[in-house]
Amino acid sequence: MFSPYLRNRPASGWRFFGRKRELEVLEESDESFFVVGGRRMGKTSLLKELERRISANGMHVVFVDVEACQDEDEVVRKILQNISEKDAASAMRRQLALSEPFISSVLRKVTSRGGRVVLILDELGNVIARQPKDQWKLLGTLREYSHGGKLRVVVSCFQELFQKQAIDRSGPLVNFGSVLRLHALSPGEVDEMVVAPLLHWARINNTKALLQLVLASIGRHPYVLQTFCQELFQRLMKQPDRDVLAIAKAFLDSDAEYTSCFREAVEEIFSRALTPLLRYLYLLRCREGDLGGAPLSDTVIDDDWLDLALEKMGYLSSLDDRSDLLQELEMRGMIDQKDDRRSAFIVVSPMVYYYHKKAGVNFDLLFEKFRREVKVEHERWGLKAL
Ligand SMILES: Nc1ncnc2c1ncn2[C@@H]1O[C@H](COP(=O)(O)OP(=O)(O)OP(=O)(O)O)[C@@H](O)[C@H]1O
Ligand SMILES: [Mg+2]
Repeated sequence: MFSPYLRNRPASGWRFFGRKRELEVLEESDESFFVVGGRRMGKTSLLKELERRISANGMHVVFVDVEACQDEDEVVRKILQNISEKDAASAMRRQLALSEPFISSVLRKVTSRGGRVVLILDELGNVIARQPKDQWKLLGTLREYSHGGKLRVVVSCFQELFQKQAIDRSGPLVNFGSVLRLHALSPGEVDEMVVAPLLHWARINNTKALLQLVLASIGRHPYVLQTFCQELFQRLMKQPDRDVLAIAKAFLDSDAEYTSCFREAVEEIFSRALTPLLRYLYLLRCREGDLGGAPLSDTVIDDDWLDLALEKMGYLSSLDDRSDLLQELEMRGMIDQKDDRRSAFIVVSPMVYYYHKKAGVNFDLLFEKFRREVKVEHERWGLKAL
């Protein structure tokens, strides 16, 4: 299949769009990194693309998907499976002869060929979360090797885990490397993902209008965009002579087709991935923006709004509590920084709101339900009942 869009597979090569800044940082730095982001924000895609670029530049890179690993030993075995047979055999011999920890034999072998090696561990967050922290030795060993200058490690982990570990200053993530946070795509990156590839396949009379439509009704979450683009691409293959903008508008105006297309995405990135408080705040602000008549992509969420919204719910919050909440929404691709003001954000996943609206949700009832659920959740954010 030669579609530029495959929503259920990590993207790399010609199907990978945007993230130039992130790739530059990861490629050019000497440090190790944690790539942190919410569900489906493109962590695996970014690491796959990084692997492709590093090896195209002739450097040695080992990519290991450790998502399914239960513990550290399994991670080590998985690394072993991903290095060359010769290196693996030699690491095993060495380990038997010197009885040094297996991971050290493996790393010694991998880094012994001269030049820098980059080790990419995708979804290490899952393994860290499964194993008690006093049993963690792997990150320490990796850190030792990277201090020697021969190894760089890039790992991905999901947002929830990172937040927990960052608070716990003795956790295994401390001092390991720098943190690269993945946010929603920028408007320029959306243009790169949506407009540029479609121009190869179809007629677009007004590319600016198409971009504006996508920003205003779909947004900038990479997975949501892929879902939309895959649908659009299939539709335009069936009607190759029609203008893309007209096809996009017809689809966005539909109800049943729209909700069936986005159901899974909304479940994955919103309903299952956000707590009731985050869902409540996001939908509440979208609802206000929609009723106010302004485009959702101009709707601002800032500290003042959040302070008042929490107060109306009956909670007292500190600046730090509110900043945590905003950051959570940001890393899950719901909001993004407006200009350079650190504390002002705009809505960047309008599809999530329109989906609820098209599905016929009664917002008053939904908000009521969220408010009840927040009574259990509020302490987790440090909020105090008034
Ligand atoms: N830069 C990108 N270019 C093109 N598509 C992307 C990009 N980033 C993400 N996607 C799309 O979003 C989907 C989710 O991306 P990916 O699997 O990389 O995210 P993830 O953060 O690793 O997700 P998970 O939380 O499931 O591990 C991919 O299947 C792909 O369709
Ligand atoms: Mg992933």
